[in-house]
Amino acid sequence: MSQQVRGVVSLAKGAPVSIETVIVPDPGPGEAVVKVQACGVCHTDLHYREGGINDEYPFLLGHEAAGIVESVGEGVTDVAPGDFVILNWRAVCGQCRACLRGRPHLCFNTHNAKQKMTLEDGTELSPALGIGAFIEKTLVAAGQCTKVDPAVRPEVAGLLGCGVMAGLGAALNTGNVNRDDTVAVIGCGGVGNAAIAGARLAGAKTIIAVDLDDRKLEWAREFGATHTVNSKASDPVEAVQALTGGFGADLVIDAVGRPETWKTAFYARDLAGTVVLVGVPDPSMQLEIPLIDVFGRGGSLKSSWYGDCLPSRDFPTMVDLHLQGRLPLEKFVSETIGLDDVEASFAKMKTGEVLRSVVVL
Ligand SMILES: NC(=O)c1ccc[n+]([C@@H]2O[C@H](COP(=O)([O-])OP(=O)(O)OC[C@H]3O[C@@H](n4cnc5c(N)ncnc54)[C@H](O)[C@@H]3O)[C@@H](O)[C@H]2O)c1
Ligand SMILES: [Zn+2]
Ligand SMILES: [Zn+2]
Repeated sequence: MSQQVRGVVSLAKGAPVSIETVIVPDPGPGEAVVKVQACGVCHTDLHYREGGINDEYPFLLGHEAAGIVESVGEGVTDVAPGDFVILNWRAVCGQCRACLRGRPHLCFNTHNAKQKMTLEDGTELSPALGIGAFIEKTLVAAGQCTKVDPAVRPEVAGLLGCGVMAGLGAALNTGNVNRDDTVAVIGCGGVGNAAIAGARLAGAKTIIAVDLDDRKLEWAREFGATHTVNSKASDPVEAVQALTGGFGADLVIDAVGRPETWKTAFYARDLAGTVVLVGVPDPSMQLEIPLIDVFGRGGSLKSSWYGDCLPSRDFPTMVDLHLQGRLPLEKFVSETIGLDDVEASFAKMKTGEVLRSVVVL
């Protein structure tokens, strides 16, 4: 048995996305079908469409989603039909070398659905980040469903499934922000502003937002930036140093992921400080830096995959903090749109008009 639903597909590199009929199989062992209620548009979806991730077209886009479990396959006990869930791309295996060492947030063998969703002619789809959620119903591994308090609005909850969690976790988990820390965040889109919100939640005393776009910097203030720097108008390394007693920030988060932003992060950091790379570079990008500077400045240079989050631990916590009024996740939702508007939302992302467009179904 299977169902036919509408989904947003990227058929070929660089081409506009299109709405296609997608065949969704009934859930097999360990799988679940989820009725998607909301799915945010993330920069990573655009990376897929432009061939920046891999060449396994056609892609079923969308991966920042929340919805209701419709049906589950054999052996699924953690979720049941009717549960309100956020979809994650870190369904931990429990058996890989990371899991066995008590580091499931790094799981090297995460699960996706085994069966494939297909086009009507049988062509198998590659779901974005193993999810694929710009669609009425999607098939995932049951472990990709994380139950949270259903009091949260789906368009807000879904954002925790990727970019917002990545940003929050880049500050809270990877960067391990403390209340007496100075933090700078480069790139204040959905991910960077979430890092700012995370730094505020942890109590960082100084939070410097860096972007090329004044509109993004205004939003950054709303999420907790204490200072803003437009890096078109002034040198960001000098500006961050000037705002931190001449020294640089304890933690600099690169939420863009380009060689020049990473270098800014590297040099805008105090001695023995930390750089966290959460933006995703293009495979063609190269970095050149004097090795003596890496040694001489000390500290740690980290990457943050998915904000080092463990969905079962972090999603319910972040939802609870939001419902208590301590985490303004609703501010990330710039607009709600339909499935037909995803292509237009990519253009708005490029011009910086939105933090997140969210498809609501
Ligand atoms: N590590 C992860 O697990 C993870 C998860 C989700 C997204 N991401 C990645 O994070 C990055 C950001 O995603 P997003 O959705 O926030 O994107 P976005 O397009 O909404 O935001 C990017 C921001 O960076 C700013 N920017 C661009 N170039 C800049 C520069 N040279 N200097 C300063 N600011 C600059 C833009 O003005 C914009 O505000 C993307 O690369 C995305 O793929 C990573
Ligand atoms: Zn594992
Ligand atoms: Zn994403």
